[in-house]
Amino acid sequence: MMELGKGILAADESIATMSKRLEEAGVEPTAENRRLYRELLATAPGLAESVSGIIFCDETLRQTFSDGRPFAQAVRDLGILPGIKVDTGAKPCAGLPGETVTEGLDGLPARLAEYAKMGAAFAKWRAVFTITTDTPSRGAMRVNASALARYAAACQEAGIVPIVEPEVLMDGKHNRGVCREVTSAVHTAVRTELALLNVDLAGIVLKPNMVLEGESYARQSIPAEVADFTVGVLRQWPGDLAGVAFLSGGQPPERATANLEAMQDHRTPWPLTFSFGRALVTPALSAWRGEPSRVAEGQAALIERVAANGAAARRRAEL
Ligand code: 13P
Repeated sequence: MMELGKGILAADESIATMSKRLEEAGVEPTAENRRLYRELLATAPGLAESVSGIIFCDETLRQTFSDGRPFAQAVRDLGILPGIKVDTGAKPCAGLPGETVTEGLDGLPARLAEYAKMGAAFAKWRAVFTITTDTPSRGAMRVNASALARYAAACQEAGIVPIVEPEVLMDGKHNRGVCREVTSAVHTAVRTELALLNVDLAGIVLKPNMVLEGESYARQSIPAEVADFTVGVLRQWPGDLAGVAFLSGGQPPERATANLEAMQDHRTPWPLTFSFGRALVTPALSAWRGEPSRVAEGQAALIERVAANGAAARRRAEL
C-alpha cells in the first residue's frame, strides 16, 4: 500500500454523494452508471504505476466489471489492492449540537470478515471535525477518536489494514495556525484511543487533512507553509506508523499536488503520499460526462492527476 511513489485513489463516495456528482455532470444516477464510472477509473491505462490501492464503497465491491469479474478480483488482476469504506457516515451526535459522530461500529466484525472474504485488503473510516469558535468540542474529539480506534482494532483482528482518517474540514475563516492547533488536538485524541485498544501503528495508514487556513480566510498559504505546519503536527506520531496518505479535502487538484510535493522537502520516518478523492476524480468526471465515446478522455484526465501526484510523492527519493 505504501510503495514509494504510489498513492491511493478514493472512489468510495456513498450512493447518495456519487449520485449527486453524476447528476451535476449530466449523468443519470443509476447503479449501472455508478458501476461504469468506477470501472472507467480502475481501468485507466497505467493507473497501477502511481496507484497502489483503490477505496470502494459497499455497492461497488458487490458489483462486477463488464466482463463479469467482481471489482475486488478485477483490480487485483491489475496489480492494485482493493479497499472498502466501512463507516456508515457522520451523524448528528446526541449531546453535542452541531457536531457529528461517525457511525458503523454495530456488526462491524462480521462485515469485515465478509469484506475480507470478498478480497478487500484494507478499509477506511472517516471522522469529521468542523472548526468554529467553539468546535470541535472535547466530546466530539473523544467519541470520534474512540470509534476510529474500535474500527482500527477490529480491522487488525480481521487481517485488514485500517486507514484511519480524522478530517478537520476546510470550512471556515480561521487561519492556518488555528487549523494546526485543532488538527494536533484531534491527532492526540486519536493516538490516545489507538493506544488504549492496542492498535499496532505499524499496521495502520493515517489519512489526515493538510494543515490549511479556512476556505474563507483572506490569504492562501503557499505550499512550503502548508508543508511546514502539516509535517510539524505529524511529527507527534511515532516512527513506526506505516505511512501517511493525505485527503484532498476540496482543494483544487493542482493545489493539492503542489502541497504534497512540498511535504517531501521534510525528512520523515514514514512515507507521505496521497489518498485523494475529489482532487483525482473531478477532472475525470467532467471529461467523461457519461458519454461512452468519452471514456478515453475521462481516463486521460484521471491519469494526468494520478501521474502528477505520483511524481510529487516520488520526489522524496530524489532529494
Ligand atoms: P477527498 O480527497 O475528496 O477529500 O476525499 C478523500 C476521502 O476519501 C474522504 O473520505
